[in-house]
Amino acid sequence: MSRHFTGGRLVVASHNQGKVREIRELLASFKADVISAGELNLPEPEETESTFIGNAKLKALAAAKASGLPALSDDSGLAVSALDGAPGIYSARWAGPSKDFTAAMLRVEKEMAGTADRSAKFVCALALCWPDSHCEVFEGEVHGTLSFPPRGTKGFGYDPIFVPVDLETTFAEMEPAAKHAMSHRARAFAQLVAACFI
Ligand code: IMP
Repeated sequence: MSRHFTGGRLVVASHNQGKVREIRELLASFKADVISAGELNLPEPEETESTFIGNAKLKALAAAKASGLPALSDDSGLAVSALDGAPGIYSARWAGPSKDFTAAMLRVEKEMAGTADRSAKFVCALALCWPDSHCEVFEGEVHGTLSFPPRGTKGFGYDPIFVPVDLETTFAEMEPAAKHAMSHRARAFAQLVAACFI
């Protein structure tokens, strides 16, 4: 049986404002007092693992141990079929230290030039860890195709080039509630909530 989050403060082990905002919204109806690693001035550990789940655990464990509180982390990214799953766990790193996602999206477009397969997926791994090192982990995916040039101003990261299956708008053109209803993060969250929050 999974360990439950029993209320009180929950650290979101991320310095990414876009992610922290989405996680706050996704947990809005639960008794979690969400505080970010950035607000607690926790260091950002280096992501040295080779999988989304591995990196999610590494970040949540570091935040739980440093804060003495349960910590939730999200490791996510875009996996492009024609690029053998790249940028994958390196999605944030493709944007460089200045977090320039316009440049990262251009790089995806350039590396895909000449390939016919436009399919891609977003993957989200969640890890909820406690200071005693116990972790619960979950993974969600959403499939779609990539479309250039980027369109839309909502969302973050690679949202302006990702069109989910059966839709015509990019994630960045959708209302946040519509993205939350179907995203990789929402799917991983549904599993987390069922296992640890209800
Ligand atoms: P990390 O999990 O902090 O290593 O970063 C994951 C990166 O993947 C983010 O910085 C974004 O570039 C990208 N990413 C993850 N989820 C999304 C999403 O919902 N929309 C757009 N980009 C995303």
